[in-house]
Amino acid sequence: MSKRSGQKRRQLRFEIFRFNPEDPESTPHIQCYRLDETPYLSLYLALNQIREQQDASLQFDFCCRSAICGSCAMMVNGRPLLACRTLTKDLPERIQLHPLPAFALIGDLSVDTGSWFSAMNQRVAAWIHEQHPFDPDAPEEPMNDDLAQAIYEGDRCIECGCCVAGCGIANVKPEFYGAAGLNRIARFMIDPRDRRETCDWFEVVSSEEGVFGCVGLMACQDICPRNLPLLEVHAYLRRRMLAGRRC
Ligand code: SF4
Ligand code: SF4
Ligand code: FES
Repeated sequence: MSKRSGQKRRQLRFEIFRFNPEDPESTPHIQCYRLDETPYLSLYLALNQIREQQDASLQFDFCCRSAICGSCAMMVNGRPLLACRTLTKDLPERIQLHPLPAFALIGDLSVDTGSWFSAMNQRVAAWIHEQHPFDPDAPEEPMNDDLAQAIYEGDRCIECGCCVAGCGIANVKPEFYGAAGLNRIARFMIDPRDRRETCDWFEVVSSEEGVFGCVGLMACQDICPRNLPLLEVHAYLRRRMLAGRRC
């Protein structure tokens, strides 16, 4: 530990999962790096410093650096977090980093969330199923402000995968939609422009792959970096399915 400006500086010890599935000689292991902590150091900055100064082969994903793109999620001391908005001052000196479970590993801390979300969006047909064929000359239909806000709330998901990685069911049942998938379903269910009725959703939502496969301990809501109201989403889906159980 060194001293500067009267403040104690910590030396951080990063223990990082390493494995390159593309390299037949690579085996999963933990590699240690040390880094002097600086004020306002985020995991994003720390990993970039390690890659630039110590190990150019380290793989991890970032894009926006501001909790918008969802690409930097990883397990930080056992908890799924966005690395770009996690400050080292909020962590102990020993920082263990692993890739998100439940997603295909690309290498080291980089996982393929894109294929998971793409497949989920295909399975739930996550697009507006129009009531009528599109008419470019039709007047715009107004929407109630509260409803528009509720739809927007569901669209705030950044597909980071934290809720899937932190969900015990999603980790053992790859076909489970996870909180992100259930949120996506609810977003289209409440949209009055979508013609699908409760009965149309029944097979998708009311199975073990859907909301009734969820054990409801709400790790997903505690973890979601966008603070989406996932508890309310699950309750809404259960109510809709129970109301439409005679479909
Ligand atoms: S409540 Fe628990 S089981 Fe259900 S989606 Fe969230 S984390 Fe998974
Ligand atoms: S619901 Fe939250 S935790 Fe899950 S993918 Fe979307 S933003 Fe990430
Ligand atoms: S880099 Fe985009 S969410 Fe972290």
